[in-house]
Amino acid sequence: MKDVDRRSFLKIAGTSLGIGVLYSALPKAAAGGAVGEMFSHMGKQNGEKVTPFTFIQLSDAHVGFNGPPDPLGTKAFERAVEMVNQLPQRPDLVLFTGDLTHDTEDKDVHARRMKQFMEISKGMNVPLIKHVPGEHDAGLDGGALYRDFLGDTYYSFDHRGVHFIALDNVSRAKPEVGPDQLAWLKRDLARFPKSAPIVVFTHRPLFDLKPEWEWFTSDGDDVMNILAPYANVTVLYGHIHRDDAHEMGHVHHYAAKSLIFAFPDPEKIADKKPIKTLRESRWLTRFQSRMWNSRPASSWASTAFNRFLKPQVCKGEIWSYQ
Ligand SMILES: [Fe+2]
Repeated sequence: MKDVDRRSFLKIAGTSLGIGVLYSALPKAAAGGAVGEMFSHMGKQNGEKVTPFTFIQLSDAHVGFNGPPDPLGTKAFERAVEMVNQLPQRPDLVLFTGDLTHDTEDKDVHARRMKQFMEISKGMNVPLIKHVPGEHDAGLDGGALYRDFLGDTYYSFDHRGVHFIALDNVSRAKPEVGPDQLAWLKRDLARFPKSAPIVVFTHRPLFDLKPEWEWFTSDGDDVMNILAPYANVTVLYGHIHRDDAHEMGHVHHYAAKSLIFAFPDPEKIADKKPIKTLRESRWLTRFQSRMWNSRPASSWASTAFNRFLKPQVCKGEIWSYQ
């Protein structure tokens, strides 16, 4: 157990879904051998053994936004729903990492946008959809509308031996989790052994990715310090409208692309302007989300238990419109 590679509890592995990334929860625990023993051991420690399942991350649909640079509006989101429904293996779970809607000062209009989001996502043939708010959902009203439709802005649940933690770093009208939620997080984690497999999902990155673009959480370090003793932690987030993978200590942070216009790579472009690509007189936009699945990588047997989830990056699909 001590020789395990702790670097990649979730690993990107890729399938051509067009909208997302497929993540794998525990491949061959039942297969015996060293891997099976490892997972049996984890199961005994954690109280519940991880059993294989698949889940998807979707992000940043911004329902209600339909101007330049993305007059497609909800088309990409609707297409994502179709593609999820066409998957050969039905995922157990969809995680939606915020900005379900685009904000507006008009509360009635915002409520209609939230209803529209619910209507579209209801079309997904999955047993469970979980959400966190983005600042466009919850920044103007402290999360009141979001709570009316979807309940608590932060919470946790267990699924097949994995502990999922939803964190809200938007509804305090600044990039912050806040002291109450930090205290809750400590209490929530207290019952778990340090080997428990944990997936945190949230909207903003929990590290300083690009603070000038508001790509950070001011007390993200406090969150990560609380999580630091846990060996198997992966953080999924949205907000940056682009694919990203960062390894910080033994924790992997993955961002999903948006279901609306993309933002550029901050290391290459100075301005945070939505990406526009002009081709044959048509505006093009690229979108991507994430999906997670339970197929083992071929190198699985030689890797560690913290690779038990294998995320798969799905290639972005290009949408064109007149
Ligand atoms: Fe967004």
